[in-house]
Amino acid sequence: MNARNWHPASWRDMPIRQVPEYPDANALRAMEAKLARYPVLVFAGEADRLKAALAEAGEGRAFILQGGDCAESFADFTSNTIRDTFRVLLQMAVVLTFGGGLPVVKMGRMAGQFAKPRSSDTETQGGVTLPSYRGDIINGAAFTAEARIPDPARMEFAYMQAAATLNLLRAFATGGYADLHEVHRWNLGFVARSPLADQYADLARRIDETLRFMAACGMNSGNAPQIRETDFYTGHEALLLPFEQALTRDPSTHPGKWYATSAHFLWIGDRTRQLDGAHVEFLRGVSNPIGMKVGPSQEAEDLIRLTERLNPLNEAGRLTLIVRMGAEKVQEKLPPLIRAIQRAGRKVTWVCDAMHGNTHSVGAYKTRSFDAILKEVRGFFDVHHAEGTWPAGVHVEMTGRDVTECLGGAHRLSEADLSGNYATFCDPRLNAEQSLELAFLVAEELKSRRADATGLPMRAAQ
Ligand code: PEP
Ligand code: CO
Repeated sequence: MNARNWHPASWRDMPIRQVPEYPDANALRAMEAKLARYPVLVFAGEADRLKAALAEAGEGRAFILQGGDCAESFADFTSNTIRDTFRVLLQMAVVLTFGGGLPVVKMGRMAGQFAKPRSSDTETQGGVTLPSYRGDIINGAAFTAEARIPDPARMEFAYMQAAATLNLLRAFATGGYADLHEVHRWNLGFVARSPLADQYADLARRIDETLRFMAACGMNSGNAPQIRETDFYTGHEALLLPFEQALTRDPSTHPGKWYATSAHFLWIGDRTRQLDGAHVEFLRGVSNPIGMKVGPSQEAEDLIRLTERLNPLNEAGRLTLIVRMGAEKVQEKLPPLIRAIQRAGRKVTWVCDAMHGNTHSVGAYKTRSFDAILKEVRGFFDVHHAEGTWPAGVHVEMTGRDVTECLGGAHRLSEADLSGNYATFCDPRLNAEQSLELAFLVAEELKSRRADATGLPMRAAQ
């Protein structure tokens, strides 16, 4: 059903934050018109499938793994980058599935994660002040006046990059790469040399054994597509609304409904979740599953009003709350929000973003410590356990590359190591090894929580 008084441009009447100022309004309009004619990137039926999977996760029967770069970049657009992130996500998913004994919903912060909200509109270096970098879909990262001018032509490149990335992800997901028989080969070279290698090899051996048993029972890659291929979804922050609007369509297969077709899943960031703001207005009208970041400033009453606005029919799977309180605040800030949601009978899926509340600076580097990330995940699980609700997933900034952006982990990355390979265009990411380690530790949490609940998933959120 179409949302009341909504159309794809109705956000334009609302106050908007984090919006770039394009110097050439005509060029912007021309680009919007061009993109509005381009093919959709995802099909509405896929978004519906994801919504159903997120509903399962919300009700305690699945777990969500959402991960990828903080910001994808035009410069780092290669098969290898996409493949490496995809395969670490596959490894993490297999660890979580095997350890947690639950289906894992896999979603990349990929194929469209290009626009960034900034805490400051300007950046100053050596006495020079320029507009902030807002992501490759808007302006350039280089610290020059020219690079920082918002350029609508960047939207077209972002669309093309998203299309090519999605094409490769679809090929990997269904073309044999994700076949469970390949579980040994997903190991990246440098992870194979890490302290986690044995743990992963052991898991891979157990999967092999299970696959041999299943083959003996008559189930193999040839006749069981679940072994051969996987569902992989994409999502990003719906920040750049002119771009999102241009790709919002009313498919003939879904009469009366509008879908954002730039990705399966779109979320509202922590800085743009004002009840009467443009971003909430835009997302309330699309039929995709959507998310909203929930940071420490979120008040319970306002949260309830936001859930009513964003999910008026109280549909399971429609709204995922991506909680990012920080390791030190999650125990205090999350319980009142969960209680308010339970009292109001709102259906939501709770996910833990253990990254954005745990960023600090070391000299010129923004970093995060592995221990803080893990502490936030554990705090999130503890709170849900105490409230009798289900911690439905994790959201991480990670890469398949061997970067040195986050501190700690099995290799005890230190502050002095940060300069080794600090490659992010925005926030610091877990490298492949740290990501895998996190997956093993989260799988342990899942296993022990399920054991606590006498082997059954915990009571679902109402
Ligand atoms: C992000 O996910 O990259 C981000 C900016 O998060 P938040 O809106 O939670 O700060
Ligand atoms: Co980020």
